[in-house]
Amino acid sequence: MDEGKVRKIIMFPLPFPGHFNPMIQLARIFHHRGFSVTILHTSFNSPNPSHYPLFTFRTIPHNNEGGEDPLTQPEASSMDLVAFIRLLRQTYVETFRQSLAEEVGRGETVCCLVSDAVWARNTEAAAEKVGVRRVVLITSGAASFCAFAAFPLLRDKHYLPIQDSRLDELVTELPPLKVKDLPVMETNEPEELYRVVNDMVKGAESSSGLIWNTFEDLERLSLMDFRSKFQVPIFPIGPFHKHSENLLPMTKNKEDHVITDWLNKQDPKSVVYVSFGSLANIEEKEFLEIAWGLRNSERPFLWVVRPGLVRGTEWLEALPSGFVENIGQKGKFVKWVNQLEVLAHSAVGAFWMHCGWNSTLESICEGVPMICTPCFTDQFVNARYIVDVWRIGIELERATMDRKEIEKVLRSVMIKEGDGIREMCLKLKERANVCLSIDGSSSIYLDTLVNHVLSFDPYDVAS
Ligand code: UDX
Repeated sequence: MDEGKVRKIIMFPLPFPGHFNPMIQLARIFHHRGFSVTILHTSFNSPNPSHYPLFTFRTIPHNNEGGEDPLTQPEASSMDLVAFIRLLRQTYVETFRQSLAEEVGRGETVCCLVSDAVWARNTEAAAEKVGVRRVVLITSGAASFCAFAAFPLLRDKHYLPIQDSRLDELVTELPPLKVKDLPVMETNEPEELYRVVNDMVKGAESSSGLIWNTFEDLERLSLMDFRSKFQVPIFPIGPFHKHSENLLPMTKNKEDHVITDWLNKQDPKSVVYVSFGSLANIEEKEFLEIAWGLRNSERPFLWVVRPGLVRGTEWLEALPSGFVENIGQKGKFVKWVNQLEVLAHSAVGAFWMHCGWNSTLESICEGVPMICTPCFTDQFVNARYIVDVWRIGIELERATMDRKEIEKVLRSVMIKEGDGIREMCLKLKERANVCLSIDGSSSIYLDTLVNHVLSFDPYDVAS
């Protein structure tokens, strides 16, 4: 980029870790390529700017001027995720428009807006009005996005809404997905779910480009399928977090050191790391089955029990008294970990997970086999690919799992040799590395993306 012509990219993440983390990783990639980055973020779940000194942060206020944030009201805390996203969009759509106009009015050369896919439709008019091109970040995989894009067809053919009698039927239009793998979730507002998905797909389609946290060698067929149906240019430049280890040394806090010390004492590939991401929650009964299954497997485990994970409880109080003491040093319960660091530790032998896309990519990059218990939306699609296409994990279905089944699966995944899963994990890890190498597809797409974004005339609004 020419000296004195630093161009600014404005980013608008969705305020949840599974969406915010990849946006920040992308911000680092752009910053490394010479762009300045301003992050417009909602006042709800607002980040701590001191953790990200490279970027400028501006808070978008909620729409209840002078009053309380609608998203922190008691009604909001009892909403399901679909209703919560509806409220989130209502709360920030207008104030985002104002914040974007102010940001563009500051006089620097704004190159483009990068918005999360969930905001994609909401940001369309605002970006057009101020004459800024809009690029969309898709934080989920290509296979699941193709399934989202197929919703109208899936509804026409009566795969959706899902009928219990058809769960194991193959969706012939989207192999290898079965009906039970379709990316839906339980909600009191099913029509709103279709609206959110439709807006995401339409808002992506009308953008000036899609940045994808995936890599060609992982999702070649899904990316081809997408290209055959949509004209918008796509840039699969992932896995984001592996671009030169995301260009910054990791900072560790006291808790991270405690976990590393514990991991250092475990045998190689012996630990089951358990985490269900930042949004999923489970019933107390399921929590107890998991706890007993882990204990009975006699494997060392590190389990992220996020406050809020278990419905109706604060943290671990549902466990029988003496349970934690009994486990002693054999297992560790934590509220949050530095997941990238945990997965990279040689003691970790398997990742029992909900198949969130970030966790999936992070596990692939470290060659860690997965035990798949998807909870909602794209996680079902990811699980099917992990188990049946990439063959780097096994299924532990949430609806049917109990402590006996859990124990059996944990024992098998840790000790069974010759099922090919570990070998496939290492192969896929290697393929991710190749994509990120200097001539690899992700690096090439990144160069193309930078040129694409630099070619935007800031006042040439996308048609
Ligand atoms: C959500 C969706 O569920 C997911 O399917 C979608 O693709 C993105 O948004 P989430 O459920 O939080 O995300 O899962 P995931 O995509 O795996 O993201 C979680 C992120 O939090 C990961 O980057 C993970 O490294 C991080 N994390 C999680 C931690 O750093 N520490 C933890 O203890 C748990």
